[in-house]
Amino acid sequence: MSESTNTGGPGKPGPMANLVAWIDERFPLTETYKYHMSEYWAPKNLNIWYVFGLLSIVVLVNQLVTGIWLTMSYVPSGDGAFASVEYIMRDVEYGWLLRYLHSTGASAFFVVVYLHMFRGLMYGSYRKPRELIWLIGMAIFLVLMAEGFLGYVLPWGQMSYWGAQVIVSLVGAVPFVGPQLMEWVRGDFLMSEITLNRFFALHVVALPLMLLLLVFLHIVALHHVGSNNPDGIDIKKHKDENGKPLDAVAFHPYFTITKLPVVVAFLFLFLAVVFYVPEMGGYFLEPPNFQEANPLQTPEHIAPVWYFTPFYAMLRAATYPLLGIDAKFWGLVVMGVAVILPAALPWLDRSPVKSIRYKGAISKGMLAMFVVAFVLLGWLGTQPAGPVYEFLAQLGTAGYFAYFVLMPWYTRAEKTKPVPERIPER
Ligand code: HEM
Repeated sequence: MSESTNTGGPGKPGPMANLVAWIDERFPLTETYKYHMSEYWAPKNLNIWYVFGLLSIVVLVNQLVTGIWLTMSYVPSGDGAFASVEYIMRDVEYGWLLRYLHSTGASAFFVVVYLHMFRGLMYGSYRKPRELIWLIGMAIFLVLMAEGFLGYVLPWGQMSYWGAQVIVSLVGAVPFVGPQLMEWVRGDFLMSEITLNRFFALHVVALPLMLLLLVFLHIVALHHVGSNNPDGIDIKKHKDENGKPLDAVAFHPYFTITKLPVVVAFLFLFLAVVFYVPEMGGYFLEPPNFQEANPLQTPEHIAPVWYFTPFYAMLRAATYPLLGIDAKFWGLVVMGVAVILPAALPWLDRSPVKSIRYKGAISKGMLAMFVVAFVLLGWLGTQPAGPVYEFLAQLGTAGYFAYFVLMPWYTRAEKTKPVPERIPER
């Protein structure tokens, strides 16, 4: 693979080089390594925002490994689920660690993926020719949301049960077929062990497989077109005589070495949460979920985990019936559209420039407003409903949608800065 494997003395290939040569004749090992690592030309100005893709992979691996080990002791039955989680926490050796790594990992996944997506918004990473990377990313995001929701049901605590009850009953608001649809999703007339069993199967087999496949396709698409960069400059326009872009460096060793300390710092932070504040004040693991599911007693205040709350707030922001259809249905529509709307970004952004660095004041203002609206909605989603909160949620929803819907207009109307031909030295 590299010269260092050639250890057979001057002029003689060593055993390692021989082995690699043997494999290369049968499998494109060196070719793949070069294509994805030592000759993957990454723009030299990639900054810290470009580490969140790698961190998503780190968290994905953590979820897969701890998930497999949790499954060894978890019992997906109405009587056994809650008790088996207690058993894991108290009796299984290091079971508490496995569980906290997994539950904290779920929140960490959304932290890094939200930041990863935000980088895309800042630098126009969704623009041509990276539309498919973005769309595959959106598919990942949807599967991730489903994975988070289904996983939360498995401990069969009060919030698992009632949270799932609220979300499943939403499909009941679909006109005409709602009740049948609800029964189809639950597999029963009410939330039951049958529902728990199918959620378990989807959570541990179907969705992880989809996630892995999508992440693979995401990277294949990325390495086919190459990374964007904070200046949004196309580095392929200026190459040397060997075809290497002048403003790029090899991904390995230059980026592997610079990303490594960030991964270590992330792991420190992650483990600090796992060891000292795994419940994160009720944001990562909610207090009612430490009580077993009771179909006869609704918790006082039902709220989803923090990463769903912006969308939950939008769901609750729809309070008026329209065209004779219940407000609940419109809430479902608003929430559904809010989740998939970012998929349209490659076609909504009409700016002549990609990166926020060269966009005008309106784009910068709209992006800032979008962040404020998203955070506000996230907070509102954790609060009980009330008239003032309801109004604020409607305002936040309007802000969220305005960022996308008005984009074709404001990205064309504003004055942009000229983009340099080559990546500037900073
Ligand atoms: C499991 C989740 C995900 C994993 C493991 C993952 C992995 C990665 C990796 C390793 C990169 C290259 C490094 C980097 O640019 O940070 C990348 C780039 C990218 N990802 Fe993801 N990603 C995930 C989710 C998403 C989501 C949800 C979106 C958006 C909807 C997205 C959109 C993009 C885009 C547009 C790029 C190219 C960025 C650029 O070149 O500027 N990804 N992803």
